[in-house]
Amino acid sequence: MRVLSVASECVPLVKTGGLADVAGALPGALAPQGVAMRTLIPGYPAVMAALKRAGARAVLAEADLFGGPGRVLAARAGGLDLLVLEAPHLFDREGSIYLGPDGRDWPDNAERFAALCWVAARIAGEGLDDGWRPDLLHCHDWQAGFAPTYLRARYPGAGVGTVITIHNVAFQGLVPAGKLSALRLPPGGMTPDGFEFWGQISALKAAIVDADRITTVSPTYAGELLRPEFGMGMEGILRRRQADLVGILNGVDLDAWSPPYRTPAGKSRFRKRLIAEMGLGGDAPGPLCVVVSRLTGQKGIDVLVDALPRLLDEGGQLALLGSGDPALEARLRELAARHAGVAVRIGYDEALARLMIEGGDAILVPSRFEPCGLTQLYGLRYGTIPVVGYTGGLVDTVIPATPAGLRAGVATGIQVHPVSADALSRAFDQLVRLYRSPDIWRAMQRNAMRHPVGWDRSAAEYAALYRAIAPDAG
Ligand code: ADP
Ligand code: GLC
Repeated sequence: MRVLSVASECVPLVKTGGLADVAGALPGALAPQGVAMRTLIPGYPAVMAALKRAGARAVLAEADLFGGPGRVLAARAGGLDLLVLEAPHLFDREGSIYLGPDGRDWPDNAERFAALCWVAARIAGEGLDDGWRPDLLHCHDWQAGFAPTYLRARYPGAGVGTVITIHNVAFQGLVPAGKLSALRLPPGGMTPDGFEFWGQISALKAAIVDADRITTVSPTYAGELLRPEFGMGMEGILRRRQADLVGILNGVDLDAWSPPYRTPAGKSRFRKRLIAEMGLGGDAPGPLCVVVSRLTGQKGIDVLVDALPRLLDEGGQLALLGSGDPALEARLRELAARHAGVAVRIGYDEALARLMIEGGDAILVPSRFEPCGLTQLYGLRYGTIPVVGYTGGLVDTVIPATPAGLRAGVATGIQVHPVSADALSRAFDQLVRLYRSPDIWRAMQRNAMRHPVGWDRSAAEYAALYRAIAPDAG
């Protein structure tokens, strides 16, 4: 079974969030299932640099990719079978992969990711110059959303199956209707049953309509997506395709995320290092809570700020690493300046993210919605107790310390419902109580570290899904 995975970011080459972790882990997770996966990503500067070291060869050329030529380079890099779309007019830019220097989306994001999809469809329809052709296209998020549509329009009867995975329905790939012909989309798709979305074009909706199957990254989010509170306007079309929608939980790459200790006691060395690194006090009586997060409304960090006094009053501390909304960044910096128990690092820093997870007592993920969430999974694996909003994948991965959960000895964390300052303050009360009961706390840490967070089960689910779509592929 040959699968082409199409994504806009992929670990270890380029990452802004969990999508990259998942796109980077899938090929390794699926190999034991008999799936040979190649991954198509854009040739951003960091990717091109890695490729130069790897010795790439050209396997496809395009004369006109929305304003300039492009080609696909194949190489083995970062442990992956990569196909990289080199198109300097679209991807050779410094800075964020999605945002220009003004902090807004690059004005040509539609063309940039349409180009990725155009090429993906061609690989599926015609194969590469070396003869490789996938049995199935696995598209991730709106950036890969036009690929099934192009495939249908340009290569009807190609016999290549398509899957779209929705990592976050908040990002819909909206494009002004006026770009319809420039993006070479089939005009017939511009209807409410097609990719039209309130007068615009939605790349995500294109895939929801045109892919053979739709997956999302947790079973709970698959259910939430059908409701107006979470569907963000896509609930209607998703309901229509409900029979083809399934939630498959994300896993963790257990090699990439492997704690440097076997028991919770091993954390203390890293806790000390984290406290020193962040300039916190070493003798606080309460738990050291960590946050590693994009700073957006989704993540509920504003709620955390409102509830924080309770944690601090009870002797807890907060170490936060994140970047995003400038107003929230400023508010967090100010909080750190005012409270000795709060340390904030604004930025993106993979080494510090890891130290936070190694050294923290608890990891806070108070999201308003969370399709899956990975940091709570890292927390589990490292014995860093997750305190999470009761939503999406957070529901599916954390066993709450309710009286029943504690009695049965299975609890791994705390779920907060609803995500409000009041409820989170109460969760902090409970967290501190548990932390001050060393036997219970240690037991929860051990449960957390034993909780299966690998890819095995979900990889088998993806493989079964692929085989249901492309039964002849082997
Ligand atoms: P999302 O994809 O919505 O941002 P996830 O929890 O699925 O949320 O994934 C976030 C990923 O990005 C995790 O691997 C997390 O460690 C990482 N991450 C988020 N913010 C930062 C940061 N400031 N520095 C380093 N890593 C970060
Ligand atoms: C998205 C979601 C996050 C999920 C990640 C990987 O960024 O916000 O919940 O874990 O994708 O699927």
